[in-house]
Amino acid sequence: MVPENPNPLTPASGFQSAQFRYIEIHCTRLENLVNEEGKKQLSANPSTEEYFEHIYWKDAGVDRTTGEKRYTLRQFEEKYLDSFIALADKVKGITLEEIALNLESCSPALKEKLKEFDHLYNVVWPLTHLQTAGHYLEPDGVPKVATGGSEWKKYLHPKFQERKFFPTLWGDDELAHWGEGEVS
Ligand code: HEM
Repeated sequence: MVPENPNPLTPASGFQSAQFRYIEIHCTRLENLVNEEGKKQLSANPSTEEYFEHIYWKDAGVDRTTGEKRYTLRQFEEKYLDSFIALADKVKGITLEEIALNLESCSPALKEKLKEFDHLYNVVWPLTHLQTAGHYLEPDGVPKVATGGSEWKKYLHPKFQERKFFPTLWGDDELAHWGEGEVS
């Protein structure tokens, strides 16, 4: 008899949502999807491929003790990486960030709406999702291993992801404390 799989979702994980990745690529320049740690590894003039080597969501699928990509990440990249690179090349210079902020008519009201979107997508949703993950993965105070195998409490927190779509609209202090001191 085949033993019952204790975790039927394995080896799938939310970080493998290609749609989520397509939205990010349409919204902002690739450099905004690389956290400070990743930026230290980038060359002076990174290619699209290089950006994807250091993109923030790699943290969900790399074993930091060995540096090796886990199965979930390898599988995800095999299926989608080419399409991410192709899309990023296609929208280079015409992401939402670049179009909206270069508009002569980018009014203060539009800027406020863009900031609201940035905050909802990149702080409020992640914190709400993290709370949900905690409900299921840490019901008794002991964190369980997630299906993707990430250090999920760290990986999912906006202050570690540092994902922002419109960083030029925020002040230095707001950027430095992204996602800190907020609860969902
Ligand atoms: C029981 C509910 C849920 C749990 C326990 C959970 C858990 C997790 C965990 C731990 C990760 C990090 C990757 C990993 O190690 O697997 C993750 C990523 C993700 N999950 Fe969920 N999740 C839940 C529900 C949802 C729902 C309902 C959605 C969407 C409607 C969703 C969308 C995502 C996305 C898009 C990511 C990637 C986030 C990013 O890279 O910033 N999750 N989830």
